[in-house]
Amino acid sequence: MCGIVGFTGRDNAAPILLDGLKKLEYRGYDSAGVAINGDGVITMVKVSGKINNLCEKTENGAAISGSAGIGHTRWATHGAPNDINAHPHMSMDGKFAIVHNGIIENYAELRLELQESGYEFLSETDTEVIVHLLDHYYDGDLKETIMKTVSRLEGSYALGVICADFPDAVFAARQNSPLILGVGVGENYFASDVTALVSRTKNVIYLDDGELAELSPSNISIFDCIGRPVQKQISRVAWDIEAAEKGGYEHFMLKEIMEQPRAVKAAIEPRVRSGKIAFDELDLTDEYLTNVDRIYITACGSAFHAGQVGKYALEALLGVPIEVDFASEFRYRDPIINERSLVIVISQSGETADTIAALNEAKRRGAKTIAIVNVVGSTIAKTADNVLYTWAGPEIAVATTKGYTTQVAVLYMLSVCLASRLRRISAETEARLTEEILMLPSQIQRAIDLNPHIPYLAKRYHENSSVFFIGRNMDYAACLEGSLKLKEISYIHSEAYAAGELKHGTIALIEPGRLVVCLACCERLFDKMMSNVKEVKARGAKVIGVTAEGRKRIFSEADDVIFVPTAEELFCAVSEIIPLQLFAYHVAKENGCDIDKPKNLAKSVTVE
Ligand code: M6R
Repeated sequence: MCGIVGFTGRDNAAPILLDGLKKLEYRGYDSAGVAINGDGVITMVKVSGKINNLCEKTENGAAISGSAGIGHTRWATHGAPNDINAHPHMSMDGKFAIVHNGIIENYAELRLELQESGYEFLSETDTEVIVHLLDHYYDGDLKETIMKTVSRLEGSYALGVICADFPDAVFAARQNSPLILGVGVGENYFASDVTALVSRTKNVIYLDDGELAELSPSNISIFDCIGRPVQKQISRVAWDIEAAEKGGYEHFMLKEIMEQPRAVKAAIEPRVRSGKIAFDELDLTDEYLTNVDRIYITACGSAFHAGQVGKYALEALLGVPIEVDFASEFRYRDPIINERSLVIVISQSGETADTIAALNEAKRRGAKTIAIVNVVGSTIAKTADNVLYTWAGPEIAVATTKGYTTQVAVLYMLSVCLASRLRRISAETEARLTEEILMLPSQIQRAIDLNPHIPYLAKRYHENSSVFFIGRNMDYAACLEGSLKLKEISYIHSEAYAAGELKHGTIALIEPGRLVVCLACCERLFDKMMSNVKEVKARGAKVIGVTAEGRKRIFSEADDVIFVPTAEELFCAVSEIIPLQLFAYHVAKENGCDIDKPKNLAKSVTVE
């Protein structure tokens, strides 16, 4: 979704801002712009389409001089993705320019109020009210003016502001939308995502809700919502810029698929000591855990699918009822939550609006919360009672891969850890399951190595207009993710079905040539799955069978076979998703799709 950058220093700001915006491209956007303060005169350039258009129009930034400025990539919400609605937005006299992420929910009434005071609106955006409010309240004290302005706003904002009267300064404020300050030497920055900063500085300050920052080349001052100075800690980003670059791969998605053995290892190994799983981050007493009578898991998209895997593992090992729900549903239903409920939220970005709302709702109702999150310092990480980082490193491709597998790995570990603390499993079972979890990284590598024929399968099946993924239990949970991967990057209609449910209606859609991907890694359900394979074959479907290495009986029914390494049944979802990620990748490549930035999608969905 939208991205923000800000810079103040001695160098020309525009090339630095353009570089930062390029690093945010992966988030998804449809227009981009910059505004630069050049000795008290603000120059603004904005265009619809790609950042390259902006680079062309500004001669890579060289055409605009000034050493303080703001930049933005916009993912349209209010108004079409055109040049006028693109950010920045300027006040009528050109004194202020702003960029904004988030949604101003009361913009319609503010717009009316401002129009009655004579302000003319050029765009259809909710954002434009902010710049006119700044102009309306301005009395020479910009900090005071920004505070007055944001006090009128309802909704969410990460805001970057420049003012002609302050040629060296950039201002930033946040409420329910991420904003991070970059601390440099003789120059300072802000951005909505640490990826935009890390090539210039690894020293960052995470701004909190309600805070306002004033940045000059040599100083950063931070204030709370009533203007009192706030002392903040400087954090160090733990990864290098290379982690957010393609490193020789054609696409980020392929690089991130291949990184999974290492990413899952980073999530697992530091948490295993003397053959036991230890989550030092978990602040839950045995007494509390013994009293937990229900666990809710809530998340969106692939994180929700990881939650489905978690449900099977937690339920099997803990014997406690587990409910998994979309965060967008959870937040508006009336869940039966009390102090005996444990709520687990899962999010790669830590900034998904619905997941944040579900987390807040769970806390409001008295539940203890655990967040499984990748992005350090994100809103979800800061809000939850307990944070389990997945340590996957930056994930740039919109379609998540290592984000998902590391979430699943952490959920597996959590299941074993909680089962052990609740004495639901013996010490021998705990040791055996922990050993199995430690094997996940090598199993992922084996799942890659076993399937060099995936590009061939993609060539063979890429023209199918509709694909079904079927499986039971853990295989079904993996189907959900395999199906989403295919549809989001190849735009092929695809559905995941619990195999036993197919004949209750959807089998009507199985016709000659229809591709059905049948997941059959759960050994105890293998024969049941083979019956389902026969049912779809009888109706002319083409079948790709996915099963554990050596289960050769699959050859009697499937047209093509994908083998994955044999794993403990409870933990098979990690290795069986790998070839499905690769299949989606190669089908999308065959179909000439924009793999890393699929149409209409954003990396982190920060609006409802
Ligand atoms: O950052 P989050 O994990 O909270 O994101 C949740 C979903 O938006 C995300 O998983 C989405 O479904 C991806 N496009 C899947 O590849």
